[in-house]
Amino acid sequence: MRLSTISQLVRLAKQRMSQKQGHETSNSDMYDQIAHSYDDDYGNIFKRVKREIDIELRQLPLTSPSIIDVGTGTGENIILAQRIFGSLGSVYGVDISEKMLEKAKLKYPPLHPVKASALSIADHVPAGADLVFIHFLLSYVSIDRLLPQVASRLKSGGYISIASSLFTSWPKGQSLARRFRLDPHSVEQYIPKSSAELREKIESAGFIEVDSIEIRKRLIFANTDDLYRFGYEQGWVYQLFDLLQCAGNPEKFAREWSHVLPFSDEIHIHIGIYRKV
Ligand SMILES: C[S@@+](CC[C@H](N)C(=O)[O-])C[C@H]1O[C@@H](n2cnc3c(N)ncnc32)[C@H](O)[C@@H]1O
Repeated sequence: MRLSTISQLVRLAKQRMSQKQGHETSNSDMYDQIAHSYDDDYGNIFKRVKREIDIELRQLPLTSPSIIDVGTGTGENIILAQRIFGSLGSVYGVDISEKMLEKAKLKYPPLHPVKASALSIADHVPAGADLVFIHFLLSYVSIDRLLPQVASRLKSGGYISIASSLFTSWPKGQSLARRFRLDPHSVEQYIPKSSAELREKIESAGFIEVDSIEIRKRLIFANTDDLYRFGYEQGWVYQLFDLLQCAGNPEKFAREWSHVLPFSDEIHIHIGIYRKV
């Protein structure tokens, strides 16, 4: 990783520690900074997830669907939807990061970019969508707050496609943390605890499941830069770096934790489609 990238992360980490808000964690600066390299896809996770999203979306009886992509990032899922459905109706991409939205707009020029919090979509996006994407946003935003907003933007019979990492991820990292008396539950996070919990919350918000899968992907980190960077992008996991007193200090992390290399662990991801009843 370039030195300039590391010092940017240091600065942002310090800001981020003081940016915690009510029902979401604020990280627009972080995503502005990593937008240029976001599509690098460490460990090919997104490629694998997209394969499952593809299988799920192809089951839907939709033609030129109108889409709201919440936490749209660089717009990869919109491109996927275009490949699957051929043409798309109106597409709104909601994100707090200007730079991520810029990348999405370049990839899909008809996009309506909306720079806003996911928890304010009802104020910014018209109702009546066929499909809402919530992909890798739930580490940052309370699903209990998000679901009513999403339901209000979907037409009856419309669908949500959800992909989210789960709190059961990183079993080895979490047990390592506990050995140092760091409790992973003590960090502020909204990440769903399990597929079962996520399903239950979605169903009690008025949706029924169409299809879902949980994938468990092994990741092997050969150097501390990759480990630090990946942890940083994982939202809640990053806060463990704070507890280790390595937040904003990748050099200290590298000095003190290189003995765990190569570090292998698992990420658990729920991918599902749910229909509004
Ligand atoms: C892990 S990325 C996922 C991007 C995309 N959905 C994907 O699957 O590739 C998370 C995205 O959510 C955005 N984000 C984080 N917190 C947000 C919030 N409270 N409201 C809206 N967007 C948010 C970030 O800026 C980032 O672009």
